[in-house]
Amino acid sequence: MTEQSPALDNLLTESRTFPPSDEFAAKANATAELYADADTDREAFWAKQAERLHWDTPWTSVLDWSDAPFAKWFVGGKLNVAYNCVDRHVEEGHGDQVAMHWVGEPGDTRDITYAELRGEVCRAANALASLGVGAHDRVAIQLPMIPEAIVAMLACARIGALHSVVFGGFSPAALRSRVDDAEAKVVITSDGQYRRGKAVPMKAGVDDALAGAESVEKVVVVRRAGDDLDGEVAWTDGRDVWWHDLVDAQPDDHTAEAFDSEHPLYILYTSGTTGKPKGILHTSGGYLTQAAYTHRVVFDHKPGEDVYWCTADIGWVTGHSYIVYGPLANRATQVVYEGTPNTPHEGRHWEIVQNYGVSIYYTAPTLIRTFMKWGADIPGKYDLSSLRVLGSVGEPINPEAWMWYREHIGGDRCPVVDTWWQTETGAIMISPLPGVTHAKPGSAQRPLPGISAKVVDNDGTEVPAKGGGYLVLDKPWPSMLRGIWGDDERYRDTYWSRFAEQGFYFAGDGAKYDADGDIWLLGRVDDVMNVSGHRISTTEVESALVSHPTVAEAAVVGATDATTGQGIVAFVILRGGAAEGGEGSAGGEEAIQALRAHVAKEIGPIAKPRQIMVVPELPKTRSGKIMRRLLRDVAENREVGDVTTLADSSVMDLISKGMKSGSGDE
Ligand code: PRX
Repeated sequence: MTEQSPALDNLLTESRTFPPSDEFAAKANATAELYADADTDREAFWAKQAERLHWDTPWTSVLDWSDAPFAKWFVGGKLNVAYNCVDRHVEEGHGDQVAMHWVGEPGDTRDITYAELRGEVCRAANALASLGVGAHDRVAIQLPMIPEAIVAMLACARIGALHSVVFGGFSPAALRSRVDDAEAKVVITSDGQYRRGKAVPMKAGVDDALAGAESVEKVVVVRRAGDDLDGEVAWTDGRDVWWHDLVDAQPDDHTAEAFDSEHPLYILYTSGTTGKPKGILHTSGGYLTQAAYTHRVVFDHKPGEDVYWCTADIGWVTGHSYIVYGPLANRATQVVYEGTPNTPHEGRHWEIVQNYGVSIYYTAPTLIRTFMKWGADIPGKYDLSSLRVLGSVGEPINPEAWMWYREHIGGDRCPVVDTWWQTETGAIMISPLPGVTHAKPGSAQRPLPGISAKVVDNDGTEVPAKGGGYLVLDKPWPSMLRGIWGDDERYRDTYWSRFAEQGFYFAGDGAKYDADGDIWLLGRVDDVMNVSGHRISTTEVESALVSHPTVAEAAVVGATDATTGQGIVAFVILRGGAAEGGEGSAGGEEAIQALRAHVAKEIGPIAKPRQIMVVPELPKTRSGKIMRRLLRDVAENREVGDVTTLADSSVMDLISKGMKSGSGDE
């Protein structure tokens, strides 16, 4: 991490606000009083949220922070997470409510009720137990977005085993390092999966990954692609077992044992500044409390009424907290979709919203910008009137994308909630409340009731209104990570050493306050540029670029510059019409000059990109994050580094070629 000076320049201003309608506010789960409640007595506030769950044994104290930074929440309490997500709803008479409207990419569907889900989870729990999996054992899961993925996670939770879900698009090497680090005993995968209209193998990669993996005793294989796959699925006798052979034969009842509130629930690996991924550890009671609470207040979720859809993959934390644990704890009826948003056509999501009457839709800015690129006429063909709340997560959402989302998806009627959080925080931390907040396009606004966050300078002093700096969390929260698997030292170093004196958790993000004290996220601190001594966030420049009518998407990096320290280099994808007359042509050069002038106008001459390059694609990870590291390599004329985590590794060739041939250079 590079050292930053205290202030990030506060360059963009946004004056539009959107209050909730009176009708929405009148029925909202969360009212403005929640903030005051939480401020008056934070622990009592969280106890009240935890009481919404079923505890077999009540806790004796809400928080023990004496061993900081290792928190204990709801000390002495006991609960079973899977029982809370499934059984109790059935026992309360909601067994026939649909838990999941599952939609496969090829068009197959399954509706699963809570009663059916209970049966499946019990069978899977019995199955895992029959393989010798018990409390504290680790199970790695690499599966597509099929119901068995969710069942497998809940089955682990039910028996106190930790799941470590590995995103389906990860390479065998990535899976192996995670299996080894966690010493997983069982791996659950599928024969194949459907991606972009094709059945592609999955188990073959898992077999590669597991060659010689010592900890692994069994591989359980869900039959998903079946006969659509070319060739036979290779089989290791004695190790491999079909899910349907193993699970279907099990009894569908299973007694859920209550585990300690701090019993480990899962490990989820995320990348850090070094090459070795960090196994983020989450535990039970506090995690489930905050996942359920935030899902209820941020999305205004009403069980039995709403149809909720989070478009994340279970391979990421958003899938863990906002497909599995939060929504199921709140008895949601949700859509789970297996495939890509443009298979078989670019209106797939809106068709699903229309067919199932989706009322709450939660997605990522990168997808919203992709929808923008495809054009507003596509959602315009569908009836989206069931929608009432829209969410965004994963990166700062630029005001233009926010406005487009509100207008073209939300029909100018749905509150948009921009939710800031991390794998490490476990659940949403900073977000508007849809029935309370006067929403501002592009701002995550305020810490939720019960959460405390601050923007501080280099010395840990809170910056004044309109000031910028580092985002810190200055009080422990229930769903906070409890450490990095097997590496307490790295846990302390990564998150708690930067502001050790103050005891702050350092999130790694830059942020600023506006004049009203609302928080604006500025991207990772290492994505902040320093141009002639001015600190400018890559996000702000990207936002300015995307606000130009010709730009669909933009990525900005700081490249070393002999004169100014860093120079701003922008990579832009033009919108359909602009791109045709643009790239490589005389119009291309003019277009680039117009963009530089536009950024200068939006932010100031200091933010004018040194170089703008028109590209056909941006290098993204499979989760949609732009890999700026690779763009920096190009911008600084270096050999492009490791591209193995790119969703499409040919993208970098296209970009480098364009750069060498001089297109886009001044
Ligand atoms: O930089 C922030 C960004 O994503 C990081 C966390 O990434 P990850 O652990 O993969 O979790 C993503 C899903 C929760 C943060 O440090 N980030 C996430 N949400 C936002 C965001 N940046 C700005 N605004 C957000 N709403």
